[in-house]
Amino acid sequence: MADIQKGIKIGDIEVKPATALAPMEGITDVLFRHQIRSCGGCGLTVTEFVNCEGLARDVSRVWSKALPGEEERPASIQIYGRQPDRIARAAAMCEAKGAQIIDLNLGCPAKQVVSGNAGSALMKEPELCREIFRAVRAAISIPMTVKMRLGWNSHQMNALEIAHMAQEEGAAMVAVHGRTREEAYRGRAHWDLVRPIADALSIPVLVNGDILTREDARKALEQSGADGIMVGRGLLRNPWLLRQISEELSGEPVYEPTLKARCDFVCHYIDLIETLPISAAGAMGKVKCFLGYFTRGLAYSSQMRERAYRFSEMSAIREAIVEYFDMLEKQALESVFDNVVLEGGQDERFKPGDPRRCE
Ligand SMILES: Cc1cc2nc3c(=O)[nH]c(=O)nc-3n(C[C@H](O)[C@H](O)[C@H](O)COP(=O)(O)O)c2cc1C
Repeated sequence: MADIQKGIKIGDIEVKPATALAPMEGITDVLFRHQIRSCGGCGLTVTEFVNCEGLARDVSRVWSKALPGEEERPASIQIYGRQPDRIARAAAMCEAKGAQIIDLNLGCPAKQVVSGNAGSALMKEPELCREIFRAVRAAISIPMTVKMRLGWNSHQMNALEIAHMAQEEGAAMVAVHGRTREEAYRGRAHWDLVRPIADALSIPVLVNGDILTREDARKALEQSGADGIMVGRGLLRNPWLLRQISEELSGEPVYEPTLKARCDFVCHYIDLIETLPISAAGAMGKVKCFLGYFTRGLAYSSQMRERAYRFSEMSAIREAIVEYFDMLEKQALESVFDNVVLEGGQDERFKPGDPRRCE
């Protein structure tokens, strides 16, 4: 099993430990990434996906999503698109603005993305993938990485072919979510199916999907033979997860956040969101969305969320959160945060009709 403490190199850039916060559109904005880094154990952050067309057209809202924070290093900017020249142009613009790493999205299952034949739909067109890799590689001097799924469906599991191609065309790392697009988020990620890729490639490979506990991290590394891990939803439930994984795997005492630390995390996140140049409704939406992930499945949390979702004032939401954590403390319910399991299936956050659902 890989020693994640040793780190990996993405080109010349050291990522230590070999852990990454997965890109999550609508969630992993610069504030959230900052928060996760402050919890420790995170070697790399990746921006939410950004559309190459928006970057190329210089849309400021798109750029505000794309640019990492000043002290956010190492960090990569994830781009999606379909046309090699447009993606390459956007990547070059990112480099000109100081990007350290460009990540190409071949994994997104969202309807809005695959209907434009981008994201995971690109895996159906390996030769187009090659053209994209080649065009981007030629346009930038910083490292290029690729995030992909196992393939489009169970009949087209071509991640090994595409990962090889990425390496041949100069990619410096690949991250593989152990599911096909057809599987969306159902069932469990197949960490073992990442092994042929990790065995075959000389560049680092990160295994991704369903790493929700320290034990999951160990199993995912063992089964996949990957060099490191990429974690998304697990960090929404437990922002200290990467720190805990690093500590456990290196035999150090594992940090256990108190209820107060958890409550402070949420309150601080709310404070940060309030500083954003977005509408009050936008800020409320972000907080409510985060709260859904952070407390899903916890004792009495649905009542708390129901209350919080009705409020239109941030101060009222904050109060409901503090009261909730006080109640957990009084009832000695610290352990509700243990053994967190996310159910498979659709993400509750996306209502029927939302393009991010995979229907
Ligand atoms: C709300 C949400 C948004 C996501 N947005 C992106 C994205 O912008 N780019 C991307 O490559 N993957 C995206 N993903 C996929 C994650 O990066 C990750 O591959 C997937 O959630 C599996 O990892 P996990 O089980 O650790 O969450 C998203 C996932 C979720 C749940």
